[in-house]
Amino acid sequence: MKPYSNRSRKKTVFEIVDTKKRGEKLAVLTAYDFSMASIIDMNDIDIILVGDSAGMVMLGYPNTIPVNMVEMLLFCRAVSNATTNAMLTVDMPFGSYQNSIDKAISNAVRMIKAGADSIKVEGGEEIFDRIKALVDIGIPVMGHIGYKPQTSSMWNSSKAAGKTKESALKLLHDAKVIEKAGAFSIVLEMVTTEVAKIISKNLSIPTIGIGSGPDCDGQVLVTYDMLGIYQNLKPKFAKKYLDLNQLITASVQTYSREVKSGIFPSNENVIHMDSHEYEELLNECGLRASK
Ligand code: KIV
Repeated sequence: MKPYSNRSRKKTVFEIVDTKKRGEKLAVLTAYDFSMASIIDMNDIDIILVGDSAGMVMLGYPNTIPVNMVEMLLFCRAVSNATTNAMLTVDMPFGSYQNSIDKAISNAVRMIKAGADSIKVEGGEEIFDRIKALVDIGIPVMGHIGYKPQTSSMWNSSKAAGKTKESALKLLHDAKVIEKAGAFSIVLEMVTTEVAKIISKNLSIPTIGIGSGPDCDGQVLVTYDMLGIYQNLKPKFAKKYLDLNQLITASVQTYSREVKSGIFPSNENVIHMDSHEYEELLNECGLRASK
């Protein structure tokens, strides 16, 4: 197999679904900008998700609800420019697909034209018709059930889903409806590990868990959480692989100190004129070079 940096062929829906059939796991991470997406894309990640978490992580909104199509299209374009190996899935923001099938189609088409390979929508049975309509015109759809940040204010304070038998059966039903509508995968967010296992075993499409335990067919994390940059939320499931906040803080402080004390820039960071040209310039300006 070619190294990832040279593959230049994106993962397809068929390959994503086939990964589950082969009993292998899918690794998914979020990205919102070209530089971060370039690193992720070179390192064996199957799907890059431009999540609407961008609203919080990139734009400082308190939750994912305010983020809009124009903002998501910009993130989508940036990440698309960096993505040559992974499949690129982009979240449809709140309000861009709920109103009608027509609106869902026109907004999803905008996202595909901006470089998305597939889109993600939150919801169960209530959005069956929109998922089906998108798949029918050839737009691959990833579902998202369990904790659904776009409508979180509708529910009680506990974010976890599938704690009771009733809630578990509803999740299983929604997952099957989403599969029937034609989705190629489904995110399970903060679903109890027992229920996530049952759903994963009952679907032929892969489940991608976030806070839903090890039996999902893949895992997704918000990259800014796993790198320790985003500090506003620290969910238990978001394993921190690096404390980048601390490293960035130290670097910014050192930079500031060096600028203020004149250590930076040093001779190795500057560009010199040709010495002959410099002499001539000094003559022309009536200045002499000090030896
Ligand atoms: O917006 C997002 O980043 C997501 C993931 C947490 C699944 O939806």
